[in-house]
Amino acid sequence: MVLSKTSSESDDSVHSTFGSRYVRTALPRFRMPENSIPKEAAYQIINDELMLDGNPRLNLASFVTTWMEPECDKLMMAAINKNYVDMDEYPVTTELQNRCVNMIAHLFNAPLGESETAVGVGTVGSSEAIMLAGLAFKRRWQNKRKAEGKPYDKPNIVTGANVQVCWEKFARYFEVELKEVKLRDGYYVMDPEKAVELVDENTICVAAILGSTLNGEFEDVRLLNDLLAKKNKQTGWDTPIHVDAASGGFIAPFLYPDLEWDFRLPLVKSINVSGHKYGLVYAGIGWVIWRSKEDLPEELIFHINYLGADQPTFTLNFSKGSSQVIAQYYQLIRLGFEGYKNIMENCQENAMVLKRGLENTGKFDIISKDNGVPLVAFSLKDRSRHDEFEVSDYLRRFGWIVPAYTMPPDAQHITVLRVVIREDFSRTLAERLVLDVVKVLRELDALPSKLLTPAGINGTKENGTAIKKHMLETQRSVADAWKKFVMAKKTNGVC
Ligand SMILES: Cc1ncc(COP(=O)(O)O)c(C=O)c1O
Repeated sequence: MVLSKTSSESDDSVHSTFGSRYVRTALPRFRMPENSIPKEAAYQIINDELMLDGNPRLNLASFVTTWMEPECDKLMMAAINKNYVDMDEYPVTTELQNRCVNMIAHLFNAPLGESETAVGVGTVGSSEAIMLAGLAFKRRWQNKRKAEGKPYDKPNIVTGANVQVCWEKFARYFEVELKEVKLRDGYYVMDPEKAVELVDENTICVAAILGSTLNGEFEDVRLLNDLLAKKNKQTGWDTPIHVDAASGGFIAPFLYPDLEWDFRLPLVKSINVSGHKYGLVYAGIGWVIWRSKEDLPEELIFHINYLGADQPTFTLNFSKGSSQVIAQYYQLIRLGFEGYKNIMENCQENAMVLKRGLENTGKFDIISKDNGVPLVAFSLKDRSRHDEFEVSDYLRRFGWIVPAYTMPPDAQHITVLRVVIREDFSRTLAERLVLDVVKVLRELDALPSKLLTPAGINGTKENGTAIKKHMLETQRSVADAWKKFVMAKKTNGVC
């Protein structure tokens, strides 16, 4: 009688996961496998492959939240199986969303009475929020044109060339012409005067950004409002403003309470903000708030009742998770105005520590402003030997993820590196990053330039040093591949 089995026949649970056949064969990539595998093996395999992703906390490319309190994590995990759209079944979750809408509307100075409910909705992020706001403007403009017996087939929207890619998506998906104000050297946001010049009778709205994705700068919404009001008076149009406050919406109220950029300005009809950026919630939540009911055409709102009571909805998708909505409510009541203010002040201070450290190297020009989203955007003063893409590439070796990108037209000759300062980026990390940048600069200085003349590449001497052709070519191809990768994401596709 045979008492032992071969490894492949035996019970899988007795083997170490790493000794099992599941980690010995190539993983399925195209077709679903025929057979099941044990849950421990599935977990281990996926977990191990994910180790090769970057560390989110060191991802300085993103505005999106990478740390929350464990108590909030607990609430989020408890709600992970709740579909937000089942509002009749989960009425408390719906109520929390409505409370968030009210609180954010008040934060943005919506003209509301103390217990009046605000008009707004939670979305997956600012992109969905912007699509909804854009659709409301388009429909409102079309209705008005129809009523006046005028053509309504050529709507346009005026923005700066610095808009995030979601505005280009809105324009393309919903057939609205995008009229972009070009940037120029030293001025990397929308110029309000030029924007107003571009407005015509087909303009559904002007979109201003509170916290440009590229350098964090706030656009001058007050000036835009005043210039547009003047033009509206002269022409009889009533072109409105949308503020894309994806990043700045949770910064300006706390750091710059006197700055007028929101519903205090009469032409601002809607505002979006990303709950998952400085709203301090993990990825998956944004908000759009309208000034009043009149600014959101009723025909865009669907009423469904097959899950229970009447549910008004204005979103692009149907099902979504509830955790982010609950987490947003947690942050709003847990931190309160005081807590958000503290966090934003701390981010701003750390941005200044980093900025000063970079300035002290003497190697960079700072492209970001001190007032705005807490980030530092910077360019090399001297690009004759190395460029920002190489700095970004070399910083990866220390674990830092710092994107490099070129500015949109007409400033496309400017390349910047950008470090976003989030709540979880401490002063120690800021100081450490400066030290690593200095090390990278030293390393790059010791390397031959990738911008060498053909004579240099052919193995002759540069600065008395013999250059190995294959080393140079490898270095060049790494830098070029990285640059292509970044460029392929579109110049202003950073998030
Ligand atoms: C100004 C601006 N608008 C919109 C977006 C898109 O936001 P979301 O990622 O929340 O969809 C971003 C993302 O960074 C942004 O910076």
